[in-house]
This record gives sequence, structure tokens and C-alpha cells, in this order.
Amino acid sequence: MNNISISPGKNNVGAYVNDLDLNDLKENQTSLIKDILNKYGVVFIKKQNLDSKTYQNFAQSLGQLVEYPRLKGLENYPFINVLERKPTDKSIAFGGSFLHQDTSYLDKDRPRYTMLMGIEIPDNQGNTIFSSGFNSYKKLPEEIKRKIKNAKGVFSSAGPISKTRRELEARSGIKSARVMEAEHSIVHEVNGQKSLYISPGHLMKIKISEKEDKEIKKYLIDHVNKDEFIFSYKWDKGDIVVWDNLSIMHKASEVKNCTRVMHRITIK
Ligand SMILES: [Fe+2]
Repeated sequence: MNNISISPGKNNVGAYVNDLDLNDLKENQTSLIKDILNKYGVVFIKKQNLDSKTYQNFAQSLGQLVEYPRLKGLENYPFINVLERKPTDKSIAFGGSFLHQDTSYLDKDRPRYTMLMGIEIPDNQGNTIFSSGFNSYKKLPEEIKRKIKNAKGVFSSAGPISKTRRELEARSGIKSARVMEAEHSIVHEVNGQKSLYISPGHLMKIKISEKEDKEIKKYLIDHVNKDEFIFSYKWDKGDIVVWDNLSIMHKASEVKNCTRVMHRITIK
């Protein structure tokens, strides 16, 4: 039976997938979820509360799991990374402050999808903020679309967001790895829909004329941060959110004096 329905997120960013029980996932539902991801970029599946095995199996049904080079995995589930925020943490949250696309500084093997499950969710804070590259691309002036049509961006692990990662690595005793850098087109196409791929947290420059690089880089970063493209997602415990890094940018919001635990898996 396939009674799942979808409803759009705020500002048409992503889609809630309703009436879906991932504890009892049917084979054809995986391809449905992939279709929804292709069209909307991010899916929100409420209150699933999966055990680690079922969670990892669901991730595996979407593609090949990727070990994240920067974080340690769970003991029996090395592909599940724990993101933990403690009440004593004063620094900005991992991945916070800058919209980004995960690991955009990798060349070929960068994970396409990122999945989170809410394990411990604080009251009234800890939202994840999403910005749709589909929607923001559509609203670009034609002149800008023309200018960036074939432009490449240079993305670096030492970009503006690296500050939050270095703090996390220091805490978990992982030594900061070498700087990684990659070039990608800043306009991607997903199933016929164009999307902005500018990962503001990693973007170092856009390879067009020097004067235009700074101007257009600032223009695009301001553009994807506009309220009209943003959905600040409020978590419940057990929620599962999956996004396509080709079409969705995200960042953590500020959290204070609370515990927040998420389980993260990345998928190729
Ligand atoms: Fe991230």
C-alpha cells in the first residue's frame, strides 16, 4: 500500500513526507522518496524514532554510505556520526553561521545526500535552516543567470565555516586534516531543474573576471540568504530529514544552554 502524501515546507523549501513508517519501509517507497528529493531537495519525515540498524538500513536504501573524514562514528555503526551539543558548549554549533553544502571541498567523491535523525531535541531551539538552490536560482535576474552559466566556484575546507569544525575536532581529539579544495560548477541541474551550488561556508572565489568575482560572489551569497528562500525547520525527537546537497544549502541555528543530539549519515 502506498498512502504517503506530501506537503510543502515553508516558502516551498522541501516537502514533508506524511503517512510513512520507516520501520516498515516498502521497496517502492525508496524510489518515491528519491523522486521527492529530486523535485524538492529536502524531505522531512516526522517522528520515526528508528533504532540505529533500521536508520542505517534506510540510508543504505538511498545509496552508498560514506564515512565522514572529520567525525567519529558510533561503535557498531561507523557510518552514523553523533553530533552532540552540551549545555556547557559556548562556541557556535558545528555547521552553524554559514549556509553550506556538505563537503563541497571534495572533488568527485563528495556525498550527495545528508541525513539527520533527532535523538535529543531541546525545547524551542536548535532549528536547522534550509535554503533552496532551486528556488533561489529561479529568482535570479536573467543577466546574472547568463553570467554564471558556465562559471566554476573554488570551494575549500578552510572556508569561512571551518572555524566551527576546528572547535569540534579539537574537542573530539581529531587532528585537523589538510586543507581540501575543489572546483565545481555553481549552477547544477537535478532532473531538469537548475540549482545554485555556492556553499557560502566554503566558497573562496568564482572563476570569472576578478572584479566580477567579488561582486557576484557577494550578490549570490546575499541572495540565497534572503528570507523568501529559507525554511527554519523545527525538530521533534525522532524526525528524519534528508537533503540533496546539490540543491539545498543548510546551516545550524544558534543553541544555548541545552543538550542537542543528532545522528548523521552521508550518502553517495
Ligand atoms: Fe552541514
